[in-house]
Amino acid sequence: MKNILLGITGSIAAYKAADLANRLTKAGHSVHVVMTRAAAEFITPLTLQTLTKHKVYTDMFEPVAYEDVRHISLAKQADLCLIAPATANIIGKIAAGVADDMLSTVVMAVKAPVLICPAMNAAMYENPVTQANIKRLSGFGYHFVEPKEALLACGDMGKGALADLADILAAVNELLEA
Ligand SMILES: Cc1cc2nc3c(=O)[nH]c(=O)nc-3n(C[C@H](O)[C@H](O)[C@H](O)COP(=O)(O)O)c2cc1C
Repeated sequence: MKNILLGITGSIAAYKAADLANRLTKAGHSVHVVMTRAAAEFITPLTLQTLTKHKVYTDMFEPVAYEDVRHISLAKQADLCLIAPATANIIGKIAAGVADDMLSTVVMAVKAPVLICPAMNAAMYENPVTQANIKRLSGFGYHFVEPKEALLACGDMGKGALADLADILAAVNELLEA
C-alpha cells in the first residue's frame, strides 16, 4: 500500500480522474486528492472523497487542526504525486515556481517523484511555451505521460487527450516500484 497524492486540475478530462482514483484505491493504495478550483467546476470533491474515502482538499486556507500544516503534511506523506489531468496552467505554474493555491503549493513541497499527465487542446500542447515548460520540468526530474492523439472535446483532432488510464497506471506502478 502506497500513499498517492492525486492532483486534479481544470481540464474536461477531470472526470477521468474519478476512475483513476477508484482504480488506485481498489489496488490498495491510499489516495489523497487535491483539486484546483477549476477542477471542481468539472467534477465534485464529493465524488473523489467517496471513491477514495479520504478528505479532498481544494482550499489553501481551510482551518485545520493547529498542529498540522496541511500542505506540508500531504507532501511529506506522499510516495508519489500524480497530476492527472494536468492543465497547461499547472504545468506552467510548476515550471515557474508559482505556489498560489493548494495544489501548486503541495507540489512544490513534495520530495517524492511527480508524474504529470497533460490534457489540453492540441494547440495549447504544441505551444512552444508549454513545450518549454515540459522540457524544463523533465530536466528537473519530473515524469510525464504524454497525451494521446484523438478527437478532442473542443472538436479538434490532435495530440492533447489525456493518456489512456492503463498507460498512466503502468507509469505509476513503475515509479512506485523504482
Ligand atoms: C470547458 C473547458 C474545458 C477546459 N479544458 C482544458 C483542458 O483540457 N486543458 C487545459 O489546460 N485547460 C482547459 N481549460 C482551461 C482551464 O480550466 C483554465 O486554464 C484554468 O485556469 C486552469 O486552472 P487550474 O490549472 O488551476 O486547474 C478548460 C476550460 C473550460 C471552460
